[in-house]
Amino acid sequence: MMRKPVIAANWKMHKTIKEAENFAAEFPYEPDLCEQVDVVIFPPYTALFAVSEALKGTGIKLGAQNMHPDEKGAFTGEISPLMLKDAGCSCVILGHSERRHIFSESDEYINRKVKAAFRHGLKPFLCVGETLDERQAGLTQEVCKRQLSGSLAGLNADEIAAMVIAYEPVWAIGTGVNATSEDAEKSIAFIRGYLGEKYGAEAAGQVRIQYGGSVKPSNIGEYIRCENIDGALVGGASLEIDSFYSLVQGALQLAVYA
Ligand code: PGA
Repeated sequence: MMRKPVIAANWKMHKTIKEAENFAAEFPYEPDLCEQVDVVIFPPYTALFAVSEALKGTGIKLGAQNMHPDEKGAFTGEISPLMLKDAGCSCVILGHSERRHIFSESDEYINRKVKAAFRHGLKPFLCVGETLDERQAGLTQEVCKRQLSGSLAGLNADEIAAMVIAYEPVWAIGTGVNATSEDAEKSIAFIRGYLGEKYGAEAAGQVRIQYGGSVKPSNIGEYIRCENIDGALVGGASLEIDSFYSLVQGALQLAVYA
């Protein structure tokens, strides 16, 4: 089964509105680029609307890095799915390890957000992955399984097929120590196998699963060549146009997708 690769830029808490807008305006698009590769940019909330305007007509998609599960209410400082749609988003990252570990988000809470994303027509990019301690204790697969089972509770096979999952080992994020492609492929094949058991072979064959954690232009090719890896969620190396462009080109040239 051929799956369309998806290369995503997670800008985290970086870029002013002007900087984000300039990136979007100056990124070198080729007209049919997005037919071969899905490209998604996840700017900070403040820049979403400006980037959405700058991306019009390019085919590049826009997403937010998080959201609250409710539509509105007394939740000071939070952003709702309706607000993200209003700002031009079609995607949303949920359960990023920085949300799980710095902001103590539970699988149960992430599950509410995933369901809210589907209710509002936003494509969830669900992140899972083990910490260094968990890895050293041999718990990688168990942790991924627990996070998937909790965060995806109550979803159906069509929803699984339509979403994106990002396997991001916590020890590889922002550290410069990327997982080897063998390790990433092993975990991602495990995730696909687990989804197959729960939701059936068709959904598991369609869901796109990215690797994330210190991906750069020099290592993207190793991941893209792996059978089960369908692209990358990229932090640091997505902040500069040249580097993000190289990542997109890497996926474009090496993807088996046709
Ligand atoms: P990194 O971040 O590419 O800077 O390691 C990846 C992520 O957190 O999504």
